[in-house]
Amino acid sequence: MLDKPNDLSRYDPVWRASERYMRARKNDVHIPLSFAWAQKLLDEYPDADRDVCSLAILLHDIGWYSIDMQDIIEKGFSGPNMLQSDVRYLHESEGVRLGTQVLQDTGWPQDVIDQVCEIIDGHDTRPKPRHLNDRIVRDADKLWRFEVTGVAVACDWFKITPHGYADRLEQQKTQLETDAGIRMASETLAQTRLCLMLHVI
Ligand SMILES: [Fe+2]
Ligand SMILES: [Fe+2]
Repeated sequence: MLDKPNDLSRYDPVWRASERYMRARKNDVHIPLSFAWAQKLLDEYPDADRDVCSLAILLHDIGWYSIDMQDIIEKGFSGPNMLQSDVRYLHESEGVRLGTQVLQDTGWPQDVIDQVCEIIDGHDTRPKPRHLNDRIVRDADKLWRFEVTGVAVACDWFKITPHGYADRLEQQKTQLETDAGIRMASETLAQTRLCLMLHVI
């Protein structure tokens, strides 16, 4: 570990060790963007644990690697029960399995591994977050959707127009967990609407 607590290069070995697991479901775009949102939230909530939150957001979705892409589209991203579908639970348990291996291989202590895995397991399916670290990871997981890039990716996933998806995000922004997250979502969505000319098209 490095002396400077905010030196993000301390996580580089984890990025490298988990890289191959990110080549699914645009996670190699989602994860870096959400990781950056986590850093912004952590700056606003100094009581949160930077290592635990950073590692949890970095690894939370690597479990999608183990799941067939067609299954992801058919079961994980559509239908009335999409958030409770089997593949959603499976990507969490696979994330814990792969994430544990990555963190052990890169030398993180067991108490950090336990806290990271506790957040990964249930990050999409747990009805309520358990603590501040959990809330920060949840908001970072969602905030990338409000960026132009997130809208672009989601429009392909959900077969929806940018305008339609931005309207959906107006509802979702109120469901974020932290005050800072809600503020960031509102500001980013307003910017995205301008960039994509959503007041016209
Ligand atoms: Fe997830
Ligand atoms: Fe995610």
